[in-house]
Amino acid sequence: MEFCRRTKTSHIIAIALLFFILGLANSRVVESRKQRRSNLFDFQAINCRKHSAVLTDFGGKGDGITSNTKAFQSAINHLSQFAPDGGAQLIVPPGKWLTGSFNLTSHFTLYLHQNAVILASQDESEYPIIEPLASYGRGRDGPGGRYISLIFGTNLVDVVITGGNGTIDGQGSYWWDKFHKEELKYTRPYLIEILYSQQIQITNLTLINSPSWHVHPVYTRDIIIQGLTIRAPVDSPNTDGINPDSCTNTRIEDCFIVSGDDCIAVKSGWDEYGIKVGLPTQQLVIRRLTCISPDSAVIALGSEMSGGIKDVRAEDITAIASQSGVRIKTAPGRGAYVKDIYVRRMTMHTMKYVFWMAGSYGEHPDEGYDPKALPVVQNINFKDMVAENVTIAGNLAGIEGDPFTGICISNVSIGISSFSKKKPWNCSDIEGVTSNVSPQPCSLLPDNAPGSLKGCDFPEDQLPIESVPLKTCSVAGKYF
Ligand SMILES: *[C@@H]1O[C@H](CO)[C@@H](O)[C@H](O)[C@H]1NC(C)=O
Ligand SMILES: *[C@@H]1O[C@H](CO)[C@@H](O)[C@H](O)[C@H]1NC(C)=O
Ligand SMILES: *[C@@H]1O[C@H](CO)[C@@H](O)[C@H](O)[C@H]1NC(C)=O
Ligand SMILES: *[C@@H]1O[C@H](CO)[C@@H](O)[C@H](O)[C@H]1NC(C)=O
Ligand SMILES: *[C@@H]1O[C@H](CO)[C@@H](O)[C@H](O)[C@H]1NC(C)=O
Ligand SMILES: *[C@@H]1O[C@H](CO)[C@@H](O)[C@H](O)[C@H]1NC(C)=O
Repeated sequence: MEFCRRTKTSHIIAIALLFFILGLANSRVVESRKQRRSNLFDFQAINCRKHSAVLTDFGGKGDGITSNTKAFQSAINHLSQFAPDGGAQLIVPPGKWLTGSFNLTSHFTLYLHQNAVILASQDESEYPIIEPLASYGRGRDGPGGRYISLIFGTNLVDVVITGGNGTIDGQGSYWWDKFHKEELKYTRPYLIEILYSQQIQITNLTLINSPSWHVHPVYTRDIIIQGLTIRAPVDSPNTDGINPDSCTNTRIEDCFIVSGDDCIAVKSGWDEYGIKVGLPTQQLVIRRLTCISPDSAVIALGSEMSGGIKDVRAEDITAIASQSGVRIKTAPGRGAYVKDIYVRRMTMHTMKYVFWMAGSYGEHPDEGYDPKALPVVQNINFKDMVAENVTIAGNLAGIEGDPFTGICISNVSIGISSFSKKKPWNCSDIEGVTSNVSPQPCSLLPDNAPGSLKGCDFPEDQLPIESVPLKTCSVAGKYF
């Protein structure tokens, strides 16, 4: 919090950057005019659809007051019949579409016009209670079930949620207040949650003010997330950006995230429940991410990592006024591993920590966890980074008797703030090497002669998700 107060100036810089990014929107206006002339709105997707329908055909009213829950659900139920016949797209035209939770279907595209806003209802009865996730054993906010997410899908194949940067507004303030007052009986809804699915695309949307996490794919594979702007107040509780959870083969790119918690939080279940389910998050690419997260991490690995986290590749990341860069959070009881993590080309301005990893993250789902289930943290690589105005370069604390090993840091330049009175590095129970890192790292990370570093390299192969091509699809202008 002390840090938070001191970052006011940097918030101004952040706002300036936002305006710069807003400026980019002008070129989009020209582009969409061009598209309107030819009476087609083009977009990129894993699959185009043979059938189209518009929300208003199902009684939808975009007045911001009428509930569209039935309109969304009956539209999607109707369009699900086209799954074996080329699939279908549901078009959300300009307007403010208030709705409770609805469920998606397979071979389906939800397309939001640039001026379409889906407004999440603040009526709790619009969110049925569902079972906790098997790998968590309970809801994240409390024991027992949880409110279903606003946009929900399970056991699906080939789903696209996209648009010309249309908006999904979680109207989270209602839930944040009740969460702070401990008045909620169940865990808060997420904005988008997809379970047990494959071939999922979520692109070119603005997601704001989720009641809790914004995008939560779980037990899912082959996911493309691109071009998302995610915004929530920096003091809103648990408003993480994107949380891949027990997912395989995921690509997250070109996203801008400002939020009250981690911009990206990589997870795989919690203590004995996550260990039992045993599904890791693996084969994850994160690139061209810009993040502002004053009290949390740019990319967090954990703390729920009990199914394991491996093969994560993050590159070309910009962080502004954030608490830490890539942060590893774990604890005795979590079991499993965080390994084969590769990060390169990060630029950071105004950070409390550049590097932060710790094996003392407290929270447990219940008393049933096994304190002897120690996590393995191994082969963690960082290279080619520049950071300015930093309070502490690295706070690296493994677990006594279970050190974090194979840490490799090379070509990293960290400018420590002249206000900082702290030691730049604080290390315990870790092993690794460094090369060309300033300020000089702690003695547990000795400086090796350049060229002798092994393992600090970024993988040269591609993950399967990196070569999935997108097709050019369209929506006819007559729907708007
Ligand atoms: C440097 O960081 C401090 C917080 O540690 C912040 O108050 C200050 O505004 C930052 N300076 C610049 C130039 O961003
Ligand atoms: C999308 O809209 C948001 C505002 O809602 C804006 O900040 C962002 O720059 C837009 N993205 C693009 C690519 O136009
Ligand atoms: C998202 O929008 C940008 C800018 O309009 C465009 O270049 C990109 O192809 C779009 N991506 C998808 C997946 O539609
Ligand atoms: C949506 O799916 C959930 C979980 O399968 C289910 O409990 C709920 O009833 C479904 N909602 C509708 C409207 O079908
Ligand atoms: C060191 O990192 C900087 C910043 O990413 C990069 O520009 C430079 O090329 C790197 N140097 C080497 C020798 O790779
Ligand atoms: C260094 O790390 C240890 C172990 O996590 C912690 O107890 C101590 O307070 C830290 N020291 C500083 C100066 O941050």
